[in-house]
Amino acid sequence: MLVLGIETSCDETGVALCDGALGLLAHAVHSQVELHDAYGGVVPELASRDHIRRLLPLTRKVLADAGKRPADLDAVAYTAGPGLAGALLVGASFAESLAFALGVPALPIHHLEGHLLSPLLALDAPRFPFVALLVSGGHTQLMRVTGVGAYELLGETLDDAAGEAFDKTAKLLDLGYPGGPAVARLAEQGTPGRFKLPRPMLASGDLNFSFSGLKTAVLTLLRAEAMTAAQRADLAAEFQEAVVTVLVAKALAAVAHAGLARLVVAGGVGANRRLRATLDTAAARAGVQVFYPAPDLCTDNGAMIAFAGVLRISAGCPPSRPATAGSFEVMPRWPLQLLSEPA
Ligand code: KG4
Ligand code: ZN
Repeated sequence: MLVLGIETSCDETGVALCDGALGLLAHAVHSQVELHDAYGGVVPELASRDHIRRLLPLTRKVLADAGKRPADLDAVAYTAGPGLAGALLVGASFAESLAFALGVPALPIHHLEGHLLSPLLALDAPRFPFVALLVSGGHTQLMRVTGVGAYELLGETLDDAAGEAFDKTAKLLDLGYPGGPAVARLAEQGTPGRFKLPRPMLASGDLNFSFSGLKTAVLTLLRAEAMTAAQRADLAAEFQEAVVTVLVAKALAAVAHAGLARLVVAGGVGANRRLRATLDTAAARAGVQVFYPAPDLCTDNGAMIAFAGVLRISAGCPPSRPATAGSFEVMPRWPLQLLSEPA
């Protein structure tokens, strides 16, 4: 079974080919970072237009890299949400048209399902059930995953997502866009603890998060004094430490709450080195096994969408959204746990 995956939910155009038996055959990502850099964030209209420019060449490249032809495809999977409406529509119309022309099914895939299943692409893949920590630019969630399509929400952020907090803090520190990697780089030159930031909701007794207060605390410190380069690095390090401390504590609390011993980390913030190091140490102490996607599959990509398509077909899952003959829709807002409920 050969599935083409199309990802266009935000500022990366991702295309990939996944084989049911052989796994990932080829994948390619075009990042729009340079396009949006001048604006300090993603401009939705520019994102949509660029997806249109990139999709066809990327699809041709991926097919050529894998030595396949369009006629070899058994299905076309695409991100149907959540994300930017216009950007999603580009991928959805491309995928639906291609599938229609080839006479194969088009599979709408939930973007976060793609992220949380992506560690299963690795050789050392976790078995079900596990707890997933989803940490992206738009979401911070803890889910109990019992199988493909079976997701129970354990906790989530009440305001900003972890990635969003990194991005907003980067803006305050004039580090540009995208913020996460830039804050992480600056943090490596600083020392946490020299400034004091809160650890929001660390002792809340539940599995929810809140990150919006952190950027306000960073802003207050920046306004209070003119900082040297070294102080800015210390502030970045303390900010990163605050986010990482809360993520690690709540993720391990969720694993204990679910009575499990496996944790999967997915989404862009999962690429953060400090998060990985701290989590690995704490998890080893707690007897919890942690699984990450390959570093290039942490941020948005088509491979996770193609792979989610393969897994859904193999598991005989019903479509994520009921199909309507002759039309399709995208879901800019789409709670992941709805996938577990009958359509
Ligand atoms: O999963 P993703 O690529 O896109 C969404 O679905 O949102 O995640 C992007 C987010 C951005 O907020 C970005 O700043 C953050 O992940 N990010 C990082 C790192 N790399 C990406 N945050 C912290 N440290 C990193 N190394
Ligand atoms: Zn994502």
